[in-house]
Amino acid sequence: MEVTSLSSLLEATEEEGRVYKYLSSFVCSKNKDVELFLHKKAIENEKRNFSRTSIIMDETNNHEIVGYFTLLIKNFDFTNVSGGLRQKLTGNKRATAFITILIGQLGRSDSYKGKVSGKQILDLALEHCKNHIKAYAALKVVCVEFEDIAPLHKFYEENEFKTLQKNENGLIISYTII
Ligand SMILES: CC(C)(COP(=O)(O)OP(=O)(O)OC[C@H]1O[C@@H](n2cnc3c(N)ncnc32)[C@H](O)[C@@H]1OP(=O)(O)O)[C@@H](O)C(=O)NCCC(=O)NCCS
Repeated sequence: MEVTSLSSLLEATEEEGRVYKYLSSFVCSKNKDVELFLHKKAIENEKRNFSRTSIIMDETNNHEIVGYFTLLIKNFDFTNVSGGLRQKLTGNKRATAFITILIGQLGRSDSYKGKVSGKQILDLALEHCKNHIKAYAALKVVCVEFEDIAPLHKFYEENEFKTLQKNENGLIISYTII
């Protein structure tokens, strides 16, 4: 598998339409928001510097999209979090907010279910966070924000994420330290 940034794909291709067409081949039936983001929003967000998307490709199969992840830096207000955990995440037990690397989107293509695990996609995202963000900007807390449903709790718990809080929008935030 090969990880390529969406920015480099856009730079390498003269016609943006070709990149849109390529991204539209990604199917993720379990989460249509994850599918729609890659089809319709990722390029615009890249250009506006809102987020950075990386595409995981199968170089042995015509560069088919295996999955992708999107990262950004985000500030969250703490809701119901203990002083100890605030201290751990920010160095200040009275902090009211924290800044984190957010995995805004993450998904595997339906056609790679059973061939590539979600853990492999998540590990690539975390490796990216370590090598590019922690290494150069010293941020070490990585969060994910997800729908409050059992399969996603299970997935992130099995991959060493701990639940931090439920946001006002009803989404769960979990964190890990890299
Ligand atoms: C999350 C993900 C990467 C995990 O991959 P994985 O560890 O290989 O696990 P699986 O894909 O086998 O999923 C485990 C179970 O959870 C279910 N599941 C996964 N994501 C789900 C979702 N968003 N909604 C409902 N069920 C979901 C799967 O259907 C599967 O159930 P099954 O065994 O009955 O088919 C992958 O399931 C995925 O790409 N899901 C869709 C995108 C998504 O929801 N991303 C998280 C948003 S932050």
